[in-house]
Amino acid sequence: MISDPMQAALSEQLNHEFYSAYLYLAMAAYCSNADFNGAASWMEVQYEEEIQHATRIYRYLIDQGVAVKLGQINQPPSEFGTLLDVFESSLSHEQSMTSRLNDLSNQALSEKDHATYNLLQWFVNEQVEEEATVTAIIAKIRLVNNDGYGLLMIDNELGARPPAPPVAAE
Ligand SMILES: [Fe+2]
Ligand SMILES: [Fe+2]
Repeated sequence: MISDPMQAALSEQLNHEFYSAYLYLAMAAYCSNADFNGAASWMEVQYEEEIQHATRIYRYLIDQGVAVKLGQINQPPSEFGTLLDVFESSLSHEQSMTSRLNDLSNQALSEKDHATYNLLQWFVNEQVEEEATVTAIIAKIRLVNNDGYGLLMIDNELGARPPAPPVAAE
């Protein structure tokens, strides 16, 4: 069983993961409307991954015997600017998620809650990968400096991202 403050903090994180999914779906819609279909498809894969993150926390809470209550999900923006702006919004969102996960890890450590700490380390590692991926995409978009052909190449490359693999049953 996990403590009440830890339950509350993980429930909040569950909500933030659903918000992340919602944000990426909003970005997918925005990219589709801007005819960046590759970027839209990349964002849809990211949406699926964030749903999986939320599901991972949900299952952990259920396994810990928590009576999960789902909260309201905030409305994401619908305008994101240029393709560079879209990915910069993604990076700053991921950085804020990393900081939340670090705070949660500190909380788990201070409560000597090693099971929750282990769960959170998976997320902390995942954040390193997500930030690195988005940072690399931003670097490429900066490199082509608004050149139409360059942006088209990047969009094609983004469209090649494979679907999110299913969450392993634990
Ligand atoms: Fe996530
Ligand atoms: Fe993420």
